[in-house]
Amino acid sequence: MAPLADLVTPMAVRVAATLRLADLIAGGVSRVEDLASRSGTDRDALGRLLRHLAGHGVFAEPSPGEFALTDVSSLLRSDHPAGMRTAFALDEFGGRMDLAFTELLHTIRTGMPAWEAAFGTPYWDWLAAHPDMAASFDASMASSTRTTAAGAIDWSGVRHLVDVGGGTGSLVAEVLRSNPDMRATLLDLPGTVARGRAFLAEQGLADRCEFAGQSFFDPLPAGGDVYLLCAVLHDWPDEQATTILRRCAEAARADAEEHGAPTDQRGTDTEEHGAATHQHGADTEERDAATHQHGTPTDHHPADTEEHGAATHQHGTPSDQRSAGAEERGAPTDQRGAATDRRAAAAGAGGSATRAGGAGGRVVIVESHGTAGDDPATFAEMDLRMLVLAGGRERTVEDYSALAARAGLTTAAVHPAGSGLVVIDCRVAR
Ligand SMILES: C[S@@+](CC[C@H](N)C(=O)[O-])C[C@H]1O[C@@H](n2cnc3c(N)ncnc32)[C@H](O)[C@@H]1O
Repeated sequence: MAPLADLVTPMAVRVAATLRLADLIAGGVSRVEDLASRSGTDRDALGRLLRHLAGHGVFAEPSPGEFALTDVSSLLRSDHPAGMRTAFALDEFGGRMDLAFTELLHTIRTGMPAWEAAFGTPYWDWLAAHPDMAASFDASMASSTRTTAAGAIDWSGVRHLVDVGGGTGSLVAEVLRSNPDMRATLLDLPGTVARGRAFLAEQGLADRCEFAGQSFFDPLPAGGDVYLLCAVLHDWPDEQATTILRRCAEAARADAEEHGAPTDQRGTDTEEHGAATHQHGADTEERDAATHQHGTPTDHHPADTEEHGAATHQHGTPSDQRSAGAEERGAPTDQRGAATDRRAAAAGAGGSATRAGGAGGRVVIVESHGTAGDDPATFAEMDLRMLVLAGGRERTVEDYSALAARAGLTTAAVHPAGSGLVVIDCRVAR
């Protein structure tokens, strides 16, 4: 049990990462007094830290007061491709994020995110108020999985992508580079979009972009053929996630109508959805089930303003809201079965990439961990992390499809995208 419960060694590793001790030792500094003076620390205290870590194989102490790297501490070098130094350093986002777990008891007692109890303000507000940490967060988001996500969607026929909660634009850059005729709108909070504008200008892509520094709880700009939500919905509880999807659906619907092809488009959609129902069995039943679970869409809409208000106090997860989510997840035994069928059929019918968009009406969700069954331990850990940080949650494909249905969207295709990602391609229902 001790290795599972101990906080001493993990914190010691994180302090070593923060002080860049592995870099100093790799650079030839080995005596504790030199390490202390180079890292601005207390010689005696640093010696005790290193000795503790040497006892766990993280460093070696070949002679008293002299320290060397081991295979383990080599992982903490800044130039190591695993990026662990940044992930653990207390002055980087990754290390800071994990400190929220010191308030885990608060989360478990109240169901509320620990972040606010640990750091005084809700997660996104805190990031907005700490630009250095926000930049570190952006960098941690702009990983190679965004390249995978960009390559997993069929962009043919898409002229304009709106990347909703698109961070600093790493996915937009990837898509625009591979699709020279496309344009994109990067939509995120104002500070993030400002950093994204600079990044996309550096990439020589800013002239093909529009920038929307706004909340995705407010009405979204029309004009997109695809509204993309990559790694956004898992940050939010069900009610707020549904509101974000509804905002996308409203904008996507407006765009489909603006392109003057609603009848054809809807015809195609209807046909496609009809086909989906036909092909995959219980799709309609599933949507009905989802409607039944959450009240009719009409019932639900008046609550939008209230919901939106709740979203302003985003991190409070009202208990009734959570119980609605629980109800949602508790209900659909056959729904999950139906969705699994649909997924298999969609993969068979749609091939490895989702079909092109045409004139609007399309909302694409990209998330990790589309099935809890693939790696239940990672799913459960990420689920707890999302709750502790911002009140979010990990969801299965079936959960996302149910949320999409609440927002007036129909799931047209689902396919895995590599790197544990799943693409859920939705259309406005009418
Ligand atoms: C987990 S990150 C994902 C970023 C990007 N889509 C990606 O895949 O790398 C979630 C994004 O949501 C943005 N976000 C959070 N609250 C927002 C809000 N109310 N309106 C718009 N964007 C928001 C954050 O700034 C962040 O960039």
